[in-house]
Amino acid sequence: MNQDDDLFLKAYLEDRQGIVEEALQRYLPENGVPAVIYEAVRYSVFNGGKRIRPILCLAAAEAVGGDLAPAMPVACALELIHSYSLIHDDLPSMDNDDFRRGKPTCHKVFGENIAILAGDALLTEAFALLSRSEKVIFSAEKRLAVIQEIAYGAGISGMVGGQVLDVISEKSGADEQTLREIHRRKTGALIVAAVRSGALMANAGKDKIQSLSEYGIHVGMAFQIADDILNVEGDSALMGKGTGSDAARNKITYPSLLGMPAAKEILNQHVEAALASLSGFDERAMPLTVIARYIKERKS
Ligand code: IPE
Ligand code: IPE
Ligand code: MG
Ligand code: MG
Repeated sequence: MNQDDDLFLKAYLEDRQGIVEEALQRYLPENGVPAVIYEAVRYSVFNGGKRIRPILCLAAAEAVGGDLAPAMPVACALELIHSYSLIHDDLPSMDNDDFRRGKPTCHKVFGENIAILAGDALLTEAFALLSRSEKVIFSAEKRLAVIQEIAYGAGISGMVGGQVLDVISEKSGADEQTLREIHRRKTGALIVAAVRSGALMANAGKDKIQSLSEYGIHVGMAFQIADDILNVEGDSALMGKGTGSDAARNKITYPSLLGMPAAKEILNQHVEAALASLSGFDERAMPLTVIARYIKERKS
């Protein structure tokens, strides 16, 4: 990235992280009974996540000329689902990780039972948020289309299915085609849902939504390959989570299967393909362009 892109990105991400943070605070109740579930949920949501999925959702809405406000509940619902997926991903029976976003993982603090329930709660609250009336009215039809997109991205055909393939492959191994499928589903599907639902909220036409799907597929792949690379050569203090754990758990990743140079080359190809998919957009897609470039350079 050149220096101008770098400056733009930093300011843009900070601004968007701020408004997403503020909206999440508004949408998630502060306390209630039993107190521990509110605490566990808030502990896992308000802890310095990068908020990439909501930011991509908002950026997709912007790229097709939409406003941010109608997309905000959708953007936040995506972050709730992502936070749930991280709580469950870190459980002892899954990746068994002790640190997430710079803090002990949810199950380390609240116990496994409450961590499972905090994940369940976040997933359910996300759909409650999507179905709730907001001040900004949008049609029931559009709301249903968005709910469908997100359910598809989060469910068996998307993230959950990818996580299942991921845990199976720890034992059975995986070839490159299976690995691509794991990444496309466990990480890519929710990112595709983020950009598609943002564009839907902004009344984008079919061709724009199709281009954004392409963008999401490549950004999703790039994002997870970068995560695999960082697990080998990243700085755990910057990332807020452990490194070396993929090798310890025998995870099939791009670096482990194809070697680090090939993993970096494929990462690069996905970023280039994501950029190419934006060729039919105008300058309002600038944030999507800069985010795609950032993915291969990110340190956290
Ligand atoms: C981590 O996602 C899990 C992956 C899908 C690679 P992020 O890197 O977006 O994590 P946070 O939300 O910033 O903590
Ligand atoms: C996370 O994948 C994907 C989901 C949570 C759906 P990883 O297990 O590779 O991500 P990290 O490295 O724990 O964040
Ligand atoms: Mg995992
Ligand atoms: Mg993990």
